[in-house]
Amino acid sequence: MLITVVDDSRLASDVRSLLGEAETVQIVPVGSRFQPLHEGRAIWLLAIDLSRKAAVKDVIRTLGARRLNEKLIAIVPGHSWQERVQASTLGATQMISDTAIAQLLADPQVADALVKLPEKAKRHPVKREAFTRQVLHLRACFAGRPAHSATDATARAVDTTVRAIQTVGLIPWVDAIGDFPDKTLTHTMLVTAYAIGLGLSCGLTPEKLHKIGAGGLLHDIGKREIPTALVDKLGPLTATEYQIIQSHPAIGVRMLQGAGEPDDDVLNIVQHHHEMLDGSGYPHGLEEDAIPPLTRLVTVADIYAALVENRPGKPAHSADKAYQHLQRLGDRLDRSLVARFRSVALAQAA
Ligand SMILES: [Fe+2]
Ligand SMILES: [Fe+2]
Repeated sequence: MLITVVDDSRLASDVRSLLGEAETVQIVPVGSRFQPLHEGRAIWLLAIDLSRKAAVKDVIRTLGARRLNEKLIAIVPGHSWQERVQASTLGATQMISDTAIAQLLADPQVADALVKLPEKAKRHPVKREAFTRQVLHLRACFAGRPAHSATDATARAVDTTVRAIQTVGLIPWVDAIGDFPDKTLTHTMLVTAYAIGLGLSCGLTPEKLHKIGAGGLLHDIGKREIPTALVDKLGPLTATEYQIIQSHPAIGVRMLQGAGEPDDDVLNIVQHHHEMLDGSGYPHGLEEDAIPPLTRLVTVADIYAALVENRPGKPAHSADKAYQHLQRLGDRLDRSLVARFRSVALAQAA
């Protein structure tokens, strides 16, 4: 749990927009008395203007709920020594500058307090930041917060993920995702990872990488309106159940349009990621050139991710087996993309 003490300053609004409405964040107005929502140890973050005289008294009242030895991070503008003195008087155990707010998510303890990070995601600052951003963003999306590809949260989640994959490599990134217990999110995270990995290998421009990254994160957003028991059902589906599942692309598009999605390529990915080049896919049975390249790419990533995922009752395919399955789909998928995907996917076995 990250307990964030806020006022109405710019620092507080910067921190709010960074953290969104994560369930692991408790936002507390400075001066209020409150009950911590957690049992274990929390991390505290002071996102207030410490130059105001009344602030210190208010902070002391609010910090009354802080337990012994709980970490207290204060945000202080770069050159303000008075505020540094204030922060240290208040017991700050760490101070960060206002320009370093965005890097908070790379702090190992903060990232861990926000998202219980798998061990493999903890090892590199860019991995910690990307992982934390993705999980916070996806939890908010699946909890019903309006989302589209041009929001700050989506843009930052995609940018840091591209950076993480470029820095540590796709396979270590994917391995970290595999250890994350929330299986609703891991599918989306894997699709995004494989799409970006394939996009990088195809030499896509940063703009196109952003589209497939955002498309990956949002592609199954429509499943948010379908009962989880049905989404997770392992056995054969009845015709009605299949119809409900097949409605998720249309629901997703409706949600994104409702939120003001500005990018037609992203909408296309969400709407048509289950189309097959031979016309056997859904929802519209599109064929060949009617399916644009970025959508085809996400389809390859989506099918592969579903095969290598480890879900209760559905053992994961090895990278080799999953890739062979893609090949067996033949003309249903874009053969040139599947061929290109070989080095992306099979690096796993190396
Ligand atoms: Fe889907
Ligand atoms: Fe999917």
